[in-house]
Amino acid sequence: MDNHIQIFDTTLRDGEQSPGFSMNQDEKLRLALQLERLQVDVIEAGFPIASDGDFNTVRAISKNIQNSTVAALCRTRQKDIDRAAASLRPAANPRIHTFIATSDIHMEHKLKKNRDEVLEDAVQAVEHATQFCDEVEFSAEDASRSDPRFLYQIFEAVINAGAQIINVPDTVGYAMPWEFGQLIKNIRENVPNIDRATLSVHCHDDLGVGVANSLMAIRNGAEQVECTINGIGERAGNASLEEIVMSIATRDNNRETGIVTEQLVPSSKLLSEITGHDVQPNKAIVGDNAFAHEAGIHQHGVLNNPMTYEIMTPKSVGLEGNKIVLGKHSGRFALNRKLEKMGYNLGKDELNQIYMKFTKVADEQKRVKENELLNLISQTLPQKNLSGDSAMTG
Ligand code: KIV
Ligand code: ZN
Repeated sequence: MDNHIQIFDTTLRDGEQSPGFSMNQDEKLRLALQLERLQVDVIEAGFPIASDGDFNTVRAISKNIQNSTVAALCRTRQKDIDRAAASLRPAANPRIHTFIATSDIHMEHKLKKNRDEVLEDAVQAVEHATQFCDEVEFSAEDASRSDPRFLYQIFEAVINAGAQIINVPDTVGYAMPWEFGQLIKNIRENVPNIDRATLSVHCHDDLGVGVANSLMAIRNGAEQVECTINGIGERAGNASLEEIVMSIATRDNNRETGIVTEQLVPSSKLLSEITGHDVQPNKAIVGDNAFAHEAGIHQHGVLNNPMTYEIMTPKSVGLEGNKIVLGKHSGRFALNRKLEKMGYNLGKDELNQIYMKFTKVADEQKRVKENELLNLISQTLPQKNLSGDSAMTG
C-alpha cells in the first residue's frame, strides 16, 4: 500500500444512468477529454453490452484517451465480457470491470442463483476477462448488505483467478461510515491474498453519506475510490469526486490523489453545460456559493484574511477568486471596499449616508448590484459622480 489514492471516475457510466443525465457520444467524448485534463486515474466510459451507442462511445473514448485507464463495465456473462473487450481494443490502458451481486436478497430475487453458482460465475468471468486485458476489476454488487464471510470467499477466489482490483460497492447507499470503514478493515484482515489486489470502494448517496463512507474506507485501507463529477448517479447519486479529492487535499496529510484540482470547477461546469443540470448553490467545492460571503462579519474577516472563513483557496479548485456578495447581511466594511474598487473614496459621513440607503434596497431585494450602487451614489452624493469608465471597474 502506498499513499496514492486512485480516482476512478464513473460519471460517464453510473452518473449517466440517472434520469435526465444521458449524454450522446460527442458529449461523452468531450467530458472524457476533460477528465483526462483533471488527471483521473480511471475513466469508466460505459456499459458496452447495453446498446450500440454505448459500445461505440467506449470505443471512441478508448481511441482518444492516452494517459488515464479506460474501463468498460460488464456482467459476468461471456457475451458481455467479449463486448466490453472489443470496445476497449483501441485503448492505451484498458480495464475490464465485471460485476455480480453477492447479497442474499439480490442473489435470491434478482439472479435466482445460490452462493456456489455466483462464486463460479465470478471466477469464470475473471478468468475469461484476463485473456483480453491485463487489468481486470471485480465488483461484488450490494457488498455492504452481503454476508461478509461470503465476500471474503469470493474476493479470495477472484484474486486467485486474476482480478487485480477488488471493488466493494455500497450499491444502495445503506452503510453508515463507521460500519463501512469496519467492513474494509475486515476485508483487509480476512482475505488472505488481498495484498495482491487494489482494494476499491464505490459508494452511493441515498443517506447523504457517500463521501463520508468513501473517506472512512480510505482510512481503513481502501486504495481506490469510485466517484462522479457533481455527485451525479443512480437515485441520490454517487460519492462526489470533487468533495473526496478536496477532503484529501485539505485534511489528509498522509494521502494524495493525482488530481489537478484547478480543473475541478471547469469539469463541474462542463458537465452542467452538457446535461443542462446545475448543481445547487450550496454544493461543496463547486456550488456558486462555495466561496461566496454575504454576512458582514464574514466579509470583514475574509477581506482582511481569507483564511478566517475559507479552508481552501478558490484558485485551488479553479476559480478566479471568492465572491463578496452585497445583500442585507452585509456591513459597512464590505460596502466601502466595493465602492473603493469602483473608484469611490468616501468619508465616514458619506459612507454612512450611502449605507443607510443601501440597507433599504438590500431589505427589498436579495442582492445589490453594481449599477444599483451607482444609482445610490448619484442620488445621494451627486458631487461624487465619476466618469462611467472608472466607476465601472471591480
Ligand atoms: O452501485 C454498484 O453496485 C455499481 C456496480 C456495478 C459497481 O455501480
Ligand atoms: Zn453504482
